Amino acid sequence: MIQAKRHSNLLLIFGFVCFLIFSGEASGAEAPDAADPCFECHGDQGVNKDSEKDGIPTIAGASAFFLENQILIFQKEARPCVEKVFENTEEDLPADNHCDLAKDLSEEDPRALADYFASQEFVPADQSADPKLAKVGEKIHKQRCDKCHAEAGSLALDDAGILAGQWKPYLLEQLRNYKEGKRWQPEKMQPKMEELDEKDIEALAEYYISQGSKQF
Ligand code: HEC
Ligand code: HEC
Repeated sequence: MIQAKRHSNLLLIFGFVCFLIFSGEASGAEAPDAADPCFECHGDQGVNKDSEKDGIPTIAGASAFFLENQILIFQKEARPCVEKVFENTEEDLPADNHCDLAKDLSEEDPRALADYFASQEFVPADQSADPKLAKVGEKIHKQRCDKCHAEAGSLALDDAGILAGQWKPYLLEQLRNYKEGKRWQPEKMQPKMEELDEKDIEALAEYYISQGSKQF
């Protein structure tokens, strides 16, 4: 009897130690110092919950490959540098726009930042969608986008970003950027983007926001 009790105590201690180890892992890596200015805009841990900043994407939970690539794309000015967003931010930022911010990073920073934000949990933005328009978007998505943005664009396994649950104004802006060739994109994506008209773009964004709470 006593033997059995000691056994269960040991099990309890073992369980507690496991809990400590795993709960430590679940909270992800520690933020590198270079991430400080990022939180001002992208939110704590890279989750933007502020509907007044709905042009700024949540970057938590996307793949490290994708995130590092975006930082390099900003360094090459191969996507818009969003000067205005930097002008309108009250905080003292180390650069005047996103491209310069990326260029000022050390050689190791892009990888460290990408690893950190990828290890954080994506939280979908709180937005309500028009179900009718979302249905139209779903059809276009299945025909033209699903191949690379599986599960409503909620997967972070591949080289594309997370679309489901992202802020709608941000998505609209990016779809227009691609259509107009203002942002670097994979060769096979470009023809699909050029085919989209403004109505398709609205419907697609509506579909992705409708999938936020369903996919996460
Ligand atoms: C002044 C606000 C601001 C700051 C500071 C800022 N960002 Fe951004 N970031 C933005 C905006 C706005 C966009 C969307 C750009 C666009 O509309 O093309 C963006 C886009 C991104 C993207 C692309 C996400 C995607 O899904 O395509 C990444 C990655 C990113 N930022 C990383 C960072 C990192 C890392 C830092 C810190 C070193 C940082 N940002 C600091 C505003 C900011
Ligand atoms: C051939 C594969 C492919 C197809 C087809 C494709 N995409 Fe993409 N998409 C990508 C990749 C790869 C990226 C990441 C590009 C980068 O690294 O900048 C991306 C990025 C995006 C982004 C930006 C995400 C972000 O967080 O900034 C949006 C929005 C998007 N795609 C929407 C669509 C829509 C809508 C369609 C269909 C009309 C589509 N894509 C079709 C591969 C594809």
